[in-house]
Amino acid sequence: MVHGLDGRRALVTGAGTGIGAAIARALAKAGARVAVTDMDGKRARAIAAAIGKRTVALTLDVTDAAATRRALAKAAKALGGLDTVCANAGVSTMNRVVDLTEAEWDFNMDVNAKGVFLTNQAAVRHFLANGTKGVIVNTASMAGHMGAPFLAHYCASKFAVVGFTQSLAKEVGGHGIRVNAVCPGFVRTLMQERELVWEGTLRGMTPEAVRAEMISLTPLGRIEEPEDVADLVVFLASDGARFMTGQAINVTGGARMD
Ligand SMILES: NC(=O)c1ccc[n+]([C@@H]2O[C@H](COP(=O)([O-])OP(=O)(O)OC[C@H]3O[C@@H](n4cnc5c(N)ncnc54)[C@H](O)[C@@H]3O)[C@@H](O)[C@H]2O)c1
Repeated sequence: MVHGLDGRRALVTGAGTGIGAAIARALAKAGARVAVTDMDGKRARAIAAAIGKRTVALTLDVTDAAATRRALAKAAKALGGLDTVCANAGVSTMNRVVDLTEAEWDFNMDVNAKGVFLTNQAAVRHFLANGTKGVIVNTASMAGHMGAPFLAHYCASKFAVVGFTQSLAKEVGGHGIRVNAVCPGFVRTLMQERELVWEGTLRGMTPEAVRAEMISLTPLGRIEEPEDVADLVVFLASDGARFMTGQAINVTGGARMD
């Protein structure tokens, strides 16, 4: 049986483009009302407008705790409640550990790890205050399951997301709140466009050769699309996943199988 999201009210972070935008579109298509949030408010407004008028747009930088709490409250007011939160916002840079700067480490950890903590904390506080059996879906990465060269700092931040997801799931399961994570592979987004150039430079390859290697590492034989991730998020948000919590699920075309 396919479970839709009629009557659900969802907030997505980093939803101004890429995977987050696809998640917002897919949640809305499944029947949810959606708050599209991004630190780039213009992008958030464009995605919300394209989805339709039952959608709201908010500017939100997930590294700002007070702003995150305010955005959740605003979304709940505008949507008539809030029961689904997708902590998707993330950043990446690539560098050898010997050259990695503290600023790069802090940037990745602040957005990817602290941003997920702050978004999840605000969501759980909201759910508990309203007696809501809410659902959280965090965007981790296959880099949250295995290290990768030039991505030690990014991998550390994504392993953090997986550990955080498991721990929070154990804490709040008794309240009927579910917390899961998705672990995408090589997804066609602006982040990937930047990474193709960085990795090519670090390895003396063209971006096209890096991309071809990504495809060769993927048994299903193509670059992942944001919609491939978004459909899994919809499932995890739905009652179809009612007995799943604390999971970090690969959606990689087989590039990772653990
Ligand atoms: N693209 C991939 O191959 C891939 C693979 C695995 C996991 N991921 C993860 O998926 C998520 C989305 O990635 P993407 O590829 O769509 O990235 P992207 O760079 O294409 O888009 C990210 C969006 O997040 C926003 N953002 C950045 N910092 C923010 C902040 N502090 N607060 C709020 N919004 C912020 C940006 O403005 C942008 O709109 C990230 O968590 C990323 O780590 C991506």
